[in-house]
Amino acid sequence: MNGIIFFKTADLAFIKEFYNKVLELPLWLDQGKCAIFQNGNMLLGFCQADKAETEGTITFFVPAPSDVDALHKTLQHIAVDAPKANPEYSIYHFWAKDPEGRNLEFQAFKHPLETHISLEEGLTMRRSIRNYTSQPVPQEMLEKVFELCRYAPTACNMQSYYYVVIKQRDVLEKIVNLRGPAGEPILASPYAIAVASRGELSRRKVQDACIAAYHLTLAAKAHGLGTCWVTDMDKDEVKNLLGVPHDDYIACIMPIGFPAESFPKPKRHEVSSFVRYV
Ligand SMILES: Cc1cc2nc3c(=O)[nH]c(=O)nc-3n(C[C@H](O)[C@H](O)[C@H](O)COP(=O)(O)O)c2cc1C
Repeated sequence: MNGIIFFKTADLAFIKEFYNKVLELPLWLDQGKCAIFQNGNMLLGFCQADKAETEGTITFFVPAPSDVDALHKTLQHIAVDAPKANPEYSIYHFWAKDPEGRNLEFQAFKHPLETHISLEEGLTMRRSIRNYTSQPVPQEMLEKVFELCRYAPTACNMQSYYYVVIKQRDVLEKIVNLRGPAGEPILASPYAIAVASRGELSRRKVQDACIAAYHLTLAAKAHGLGTCWVTDMDKDEVKNLLGVPHDDYIACIMPIGFPAESFPKPKRHEVSSFVRYV
């Protein structure tokens, strides 16, 4: 079952402009007298009425305290206080008001959390993360990420891919030494994952491993974790270090961890520049 929370507004056009342009919530459904916005797992509706309903609180949560700080910078004009910790709920948050006086709260939970992001948000907001907190990903969370990785597509459904979790610091350092500066993100998180595929199983080992790597980036994002591709890892020296057979293919090695940096939605080429119809 899905759900929508509706509020009455005295000025639908104005409120639409605010939630869409200032808070950047995509308009999910425009029903004329009501407008419904989508934000992650939240569907938030406003309907034209004589009087605005302003009771309650609309809380938005983001993965990390640094995201709360970034939001505070862009939303300073509507904020009513500065970001601060609230130990009672183990959150980091600030308060703001919408133009009709509703309480808005922007927060991050300071403990591991089942993340709620839509596939669309995962696709648009995933970024390469090169700074991480020192907190290792709990095993339970890692297993949930790998559970999602079971569903990556593979040539002939051979499921030739596999992941090698590398926790040994000296092994990670040797790998980075082989790669040079572009490999440094590997050392930024407590551990890293090599994404490989079995040569004996698939004639499409390169594609299988690359898709499995991208599946991992998205599965990690779905759980609030960051990753960063480091390529040029399909080398005998790396395979020797990891005990990977020489006929297998290593698509990349990725750090995985809790991001210590955040980015707005990036600017990218317009669709018209990379799609053509024949
Ligand atoms: C095939 C591939 C190879 C990459 N190799 C590296 C790498 O060796 N080191 C690194 O720091 N980032 C690497 N990246 C990350 C890219 O720099 C990054 O995806 C790109 O700048 C776009 O930024 P975004 O991922 O934050 O959207 C690689 C990404 C891809 C897809």
